[in-house]
Amino acid sequence: MNTKNIDVELREAFEKAFPGNDFPPIALLPATDAKFGDYQCNDAMKFAKLLHLPPRKIAEAAVAQLATGGDSPFAKVEVAGPGFINATVSADWLAGRLGDLAADGFLGVPQSGAGKKVVIDYSSPNAAKQMHIGHIRSTVIGNALDRIFRGLGYDVVADNHLGDWGTQFGILIKGYRELLTQDERDHLTVANLEKCYVLSAARAKEEDGVWKDACRAELVKLQQGDPDDVALWKRFIDISIGEFDRMYAKLGVKFDTYRGESYYNDMMPAVLERLEKAGLSEPSEGALIVNLEGDGLGVAIVRKSDGGFNYTTSDLACVDSRVKDYAPERIVYVTDDRQQLHFKQFFKICEKLGYATKLVHVPFGLMSYGGKAISTREGNLIRLDDLLAEAVRRALAIVRSRDAGDASAEPTPGQIELAEQIGFGAVKYADLSHDPGTAIDFNWDKALALEGNSGPYLQYAHARVCSLLAKAPGEAEAPGAFAVSTPSEKQLALQLLKFGGVVARAADNYKPSILADYLFQTAQLYSSFYQNSPILKSEPAVRAARLRLCALFGRVLAKGLDLLGIAAPSRI
Ligand code: ARG
Repeated sequence: MNTKNIDVELREAFEKAFPGNDFPPIALLPATDAKFGDYQCNDAMKFAKLLHLPPRKIAEAAVAQLATGGDSPFAKVEVAGPGFINATVSADWLAGRLGDLAADGFLGVPQSGAGKKVVIDYSSPNAAKQMHIGHIRSTVIGNALDRIFRGLGYDVVADNHLGDWGTQFGILIKGYRELLTQDERDHLTVANLEKCYVLSAARAKEEDGVWKDACRAELVKLQQGDPDDVALWKRFIDISIGEFDRMYAKLGVKFDTYRGESYYNDMMPAVLERLEKAGLSEPSEGALIVNLEGDGLGVAIVRKSDGGFNYTTSDLACVDSRVKDYAPERIVYVTDDRQQLHFKQFFKICEKLGYATKLVHVPFGLMSYGGKAISTREGNLIRLDDLLAEAVRRALAIVRSRDAGDASAEPTPGQIELAEQIGFGAVKYADLSHDPGTAIDFNWDKALALEGNSGPYLQYAHARVCSLLAKAPGEAEAPGAFAVSTPSEKQLALQLLKFGGVVARAADNYKPSILADYLFQTAQLYSSFYQNSPILKSEPAVRAARLRLCALFGRVLAKGLDLLGIAAPSRI
């Protein structure tokens, strides 16, 4: 059996046809349409200049060097149009590649990130506010990217850049002291902090300005390190992180560090010095700015007229600290797309300061509800906690309807665990199946979809393959070869072989949706294979080969779901 890499075979064909030329690695990519064959190569177009020949002639000469049939990996190779090479592979070669895939602990996912560090800055909520459905996107998309990059072998630092510093703390401290009851102060929750902020911010708008000045004075005290104010601020942060962590635990999200904006506060003056030295900053109306008009990016304020620093200064301090601490190959920021200008300005300044680290902003479309931006003012704020609780409630109803038993009894711990896996899976997948760039108008039924292109559909496909394999214990793992005979078997096989490339593409484009789409397609191909091909009733050799293919599908699906942060329970 010839298990040679078909890309290598094709490259050798080019070299034989045009001796003495140095060809770059040649790519045989999965065909975009099965009617063209299984794989296609468009590289002859690229070589036209090098060889001074029409691409079609080049493609034909290379193809003439390729053997087909016999023990060649190719069953058929053809040239189409201006010079596309379309290849159909042999069933034997395909079976061999499936064997390689099954034997690979990474399931074909290239370890292209080995030895490289990447910082992923995501979730990053503001302290003293409850997490709502608007926060789910940064958390879920960021966590999927985190997992995908780890899957590719990158050393990932998942960094939660909390909004834990700024004017809101003056307002909060003043409100805490004067607007909360003793009981609320004793049992401080994020909900109470939020209420305290709303009340205090309203008073800060009063005409006489007395409240506003008092808030401002608290902020100055905090910034100057007043022990009482600092202790209060710490308490607000600890309580906030405690709440956020409760949400992260449910969602299976873990951070390596929680360096919020406050962490960088002492480093701000050094940022201004660096800007000054590089000749990048200039005074303007009492403030200090970096003029980026020449780059079409307007003006970035780095010190306000009241002497305070702002978001850009803080991010500049942060990048410097990350570069020193981690020497990352790149830093990825996942935030909503309203921050695009901020990141463009900040990246441009980094470039001018000479930072070599690749900086990437992954902007996602805003989540709205009822067509309106989510805000307390609009009164359309759904707490993340409530969303997750509703997701579990709906999933539990389904889990219980499947389990025969007393419907009025308390749900068992097993049922609850399963309902959480399904409910949270539904919420995550509903988000991840969209291109991050698209805006989402929140809709309970869509966010909690349990059918169609949904998380639970994929979980169900996984559970079904597990239950099939359980009917033939040990058979799929027994030594033996794969075999590919029917068209639906072949389509599934070709699809499984794409997995590693898809994971790499999802990372390259910062789009977990590429992986989500792939998993959905794969589950559909599996389902058509399953419907068209008897498995347990087949004769022993076919049965064993098909069980192996089923098991491989189950592994790819479970791994793909894991890279999206979605559980793959073995029963539903
Ligand atoms: N806390 C910010 C917000 O809620 C997001 C921070 C993103 N990270 C960063 N380094 N700027 O919008």
